[in-house]
Amino acid sequence: MKSSKNSKEILIKLIFLEWYKKNKRNLPWRKLEKNNLPNPYYVFISEFMLQQTTVGTVKNRFKEFVLIWPNINTLSRISEKTILSFWSGLGYYSRATNLLKASKIISKKYRNKIPSNYDDLINLPGIGEYTAKAILGIAFNKPVMPIDANIERIIARIYGFKSPISKVKNELKDKSELFKSNKFSSTLIQAFMDYGSLVCTPRNPNCKICVIKKHCFSFKNNLQDIIPIKIKSKLNKRKKYTRAYVFYNENDEILVRKRSSKGMLASMLEVPNDKWENERKNLVYDKLIFKLKNKMQLKGIINYSFSHFELETEVFRLKVNKNSFMSHKWIKKKSLNKSSLPTIMKKIVQTAL
Ligand code: ADE
Repeated sequence: MKSSKNSKEILIKLIFLEWYKKNKRNLPWRKLEKNNLPNPYYVFISEFMLQQTTVGTVKNRFKEFVLIWPNINTLSRISEKTILSFWSGLGYYSRATNLLKASKIISKKYRNKIPSNYDDLINLPGIGEYTAKAILGIAFNKPVMPIDANIERIIARIYGFKSPISKVKNELKDKSELFKSNKFSSTLIQAFMDYGSLVCTPRNPNCKICVIKKHCFSFKNNLQDIIPIKIKSKLNKRKKYTRAYVFYNENDEILVRKRSSKGMLASMLEVPNDKWENERKNLVYDKLIFKLKNKMQLKGIINYSFSHFELETEVFRLKVNKNSFMSHKWIKKKSLNKSSLPTIMKKIVQTAL
């Protein structure tokens, strides 16, 4: 017999499993196969996409992705350029290159089968502890608990942690272990995720409909709006500066080029822009611009937020003859939105034209 030591956690697990039956989100990577678990390839792709992007954005992009590349075998054969071009709009492009590298390894080393053990998964590019456990738990029903922001918040509220999450990571991890399931891991992990995003939300949690409020320290002490304790936001995000140049020609085309294979937006297309600097006064004109800088027309300034800094961009434009820039790549203005230009570059072009 299991001791009654963890009876509260056992109860919460049962309640969540019941709640999930009626309230689960219908997400395309969750379709169950004969073994009552989702397709491991679908879980693998969705977890990469969800690393820094919301479920709402990922849903449709995931469907497009698996229609084009329905399994590891097809994915592992494509080029970096192809996956980067697909990834436009999802951001954090290193995820795309890592996903492709991982799929090539899986194809070769594991004969197209997603590994079902922690050591093999964690050694793949782009897979950290969270993603490895999410794949093990959701796709293979292994008794693990991947700790994402939803799960951290639910646990912090249940136990009434009175310190910011970043200060109680070890305690949260210990508590999360109590919620592992030997039999229903896949369902329970997804139940936690959905509960955090539908009921136990970051702001204004819906305690009225909460099915575990009897077991929740924060609810009983009216602390649900305070826990998890927020850390006052640090200084504003660091700023960087650049100038971008939109050349358009008589055929309504825009001049683009490929970025370096290292650093931000590696290997993506861009409109010409100066090296990004920490201070505006350090900006140096890009080689292509140097002789034309006095002809350029300033069309606006935009701010674009990356994860660790904000990029302020002065946007210039100039009409030129295609003949004078024959060796360059041009793309039609009309097809810009569908092109593989990263979002910031699309914003720059919109501002210029
Ligand atoms: N966030 C990360 N993984 C997820 C999943 N499998 N379902 C919903 N949200 C998620």
